[in-house]
Amino acid sequence: MKSINEFQNKKKNNDPITMVTCYDYWSAKIIYETEIDAVLVGDSAAMVMHGFESTINAEVEMMLYHIKAVKKGLEDKLLIADFPFLAHRKGKRFSIEVADKYLKSGANAVKIEGAGSTIDIIKELIDSGIPVMGHLGLTPQSINALGGYIVQGKKSVDAAKILSDALELETAGCFAVVLELIPADLAKKITEQLKIPTIGIGAGRFTSGQILVLHDLLGLTKDFNPKFVRKYLNGFELIKQALNNFNQDVKSNLFPDDEESF
Ligand code: KIV
Repeated sequence: MKSINEFQNKKKNNDPITMVTCYDYWSAKIIYETEIDAVLVGDSAAMVMHGFESTINAEVEMMLYHIKAVKKGLEDKLLIADFPFLAHRKGKRFSIEVADKYLKSGANAVKIEGAGSTIDIIKELIDSGIPVMGHLGLTPQSINALGGYIVQGKKSVDAAKILSDALELETAGCFAVVLELIPADLAKKITEQLKIPTIGIGAGRFTSGQILVLHDLLGLTKDFNPKFVRKYLNGFELIKQALNNFNQDVKSNLFPDDEESF
């Protein structure tokens, strides 16, 4: 998939959308050869790639570094990149400059968490020709305000707020919205009421598509086992085994052998 038009047509055609996060060149090269529709250079890079405790430590420069690496491997597949913590709260000028750098580094669109007072900035970016994906429910950049990685929208008043925020994002011109960690019936209701696609993570199966953090679905994050992740590989153990095999071979004088020598 190469454009946000194709992305939106998928919802119209009832065709589920698949997304994964990606932060580096070699993963992007693998993803390029798959049927995965689009990639998010998520600010989860701060946690997955840099070992921080939350996404609050993601910075514009950090994101640009990852966007550029991913773009080289992803070629023309759709690349969406997260605005980092507070970047969109530093004024319209700053937001435009960040988006300018993102798009020149290879992003096709940006993702911004929240609605409400963020709507003005989102509109400004969209008016400037920058496609924006929204993000509602559990918005990890607000983790300190939310008090933890807790399912959002369980109370009817909170559910109504998430629904009205989603409608507000659609009216503002967002081309899609991520719904994170909300009850499946709420995600279903939002998906039914919006024309734009919804991409779920921990939001049940009634969204227009799904996104997972690449390292989670590959089983590389050993101690992170939330209910909403399905591990498609035991990557951590497989890589550990390969490294131990190499170590063992070297220590037993089995590597390199004659074939591997000049
Ligand atoms: O940064 C990220 O990985 C995300 C996904 C969880 C949607 O925003």
